Amino acid sequence: MTTAAQVLSQFQAVGVETCFHDRHITPQIYADLNGSNWSIKDYEARGGYQALRTILGKDGGEGLSQDQVVATVKESGLRGRGGAGFPTGLKWSFMPRQFPGQKYLVCNSDEGEPGTCKDRDILMYNPHIVIEGMIIAAYAMGITVGYNYIHGEIFQVYERFEAALEEARAAGYLGDNILGSSFSFQLHAHHGFGAYICGEETALLESLEGKKGQPRFKPPFPASFGLYGKPTTINNTETFAAVPWIIRNGGPAYLACGKPNNGGTKIFSVSGDVERPGNYEIPLGTPFAKLLELAGGVRKGRQLKAVIPGGSSSPVLPASIIMECTMDYDSIAKAGSMLGSGAVIVMDDSRCMVESLKRLSYFYMHESCGQCTPCREGTGWLWRLVDRIHRGEGRPADMDLLDNVASNIMGRTICALGDAAAMPVRAMLKHYRPEFAAMIGKPNPQAATSA
Ligand SMILES: Cc1cc2nc3c(=O)[nH]c(=O)nc-3n(C[C@H](O)[C@H](O)[C@H](O)COP(=O)(O)O)c2cc1C
Ligand code: SF4
Repeated sequence: MTTAAQVLSQFQAVGVETCFHDRHITPQIYADLNGSNWSIKDYEARGGYQALRTILGKDGGEGLSQDQVVATVKESGLRGRGGAGFPTGLKWSFMPRQFPGQKYLVCNSDEGEPGTCKDRDILMYNPHIVIEGMIIAAYAMGITVGYNYIHGEIFQVYERFEAALEEARAAGYLGDNILGSSFSFQLHAHHGFGAYICGEETALLESLEGKKGQPRFKPPFPASFGLYGKPTTINNTETFAAVPWIIRNGGPAYLACGKPNNGGTKIFSVSGDVERPGNYEIPLGTPFAKLLELAGGVRKGRQLKAVIPGGSSSPVLPASIIMECTMDYDSIAKAGSMLGSGAVIVMDDSRCMVESLKRLSYFYMHESCGQCTPCREGTGWLWRLVDRIHRGEGRPADMDLLDNVASNIMGRTICALGDAAAMPVRAMLKHYRPEFAAMIGKPNPQAATSA
């Protein structure tokens, strides 16, 4: 019988060292956290809410205009940490500030990408950094109402965020006339129910409106038609968490932490076959080899076989390629994959790639929202084909068929979940086709018919 702990362990990385260690490099978001210093007093002692005081002119200075805040974020080279790496300052400049009606700011804390567990640590152990980042973003875009949509299976994180919101309201950082200024911003928390698709920004908006969480056609994009049809800006938790440091230290200082076009630090959730899985905050542009070393190297001294560098939807990279990469958007893209959400899944030489792909394909089949045929039907076909090969009942033509089904999903769906399901398949075939071929026609008694 499955125990409660086993069920929970599917959702929470039980026993995994998270962010409390000294193996970050120049951390900005996880700096000086110990698990108990999450409250507003601790955050203020770390310099928290100073950036907000600065922009509102409450630290003796003149304050910053909306344009100056947006320009600083542009200068910083901050790119969205939710997956696509879109430049944040540019996104903020799309908000029609003069729009006469309500405008909304939304934080995407849905964090459902397999392998990713960074946002929950930010919200649990440093929630005020997200609140301050959101207030600054709201000020910059002239927004008065915001929501943080938090993954439903980490309810304690939602409760922690609610507690932090209460503290911020009581201290005058949230609500009407913040710190005595003319700027007002109301921020609310909302928890989802664990559907991966609700992390896709338009599905998230639908869910926030109380509807079924299914993606919308784009365009129109949320900047013009977002929550309740009003202009909306959505950013990831880590993206907002980066903002206070940028305002305090300036755009160029943030850019200098990383490399050109890839400003600042990034949190990588390292999991799989390493000695010390956990969250590591390091400058963008750090060599992958260094990150692997921080995570204790490959478990039990085995050889590195492959790495999924940016969450389960990013194409797998063999050891020989990833060991030459630096961890930033441009280097990983050049190598043929994506930095994505920064979930680094390490596989040693004992891993069967067919079995790994079978597990991934099952996930995407399960999480497809079913709106469009190539994704709804195609993800099922992908899983059944990989399962068939894994059981030794595949046919020689199955590998081409698999590639063909994956190619026909890509670019033909409403949202990027279709691509996310297809890309791992194509990359596995590209790099590990002989492993698939070796399983054709060889009965595999260990392969269960489920995922
Ligand atoms: C299927 C799917 C799931 C996604 N899940 C998340 C998620 O859990 N968290 C997140 O921030 N972005 C997720 N995204 C990306 C969002 O749609 C959006 O691009 C992001 O929140 C924008 O924030 P950023 O610019 O700060 O990265 C997902 C996208 C897709 C297609
Ligand atoms: S691609 Fe998949 S998840 Fe996205 S809208 Fe279509 S069916 Fe839904």
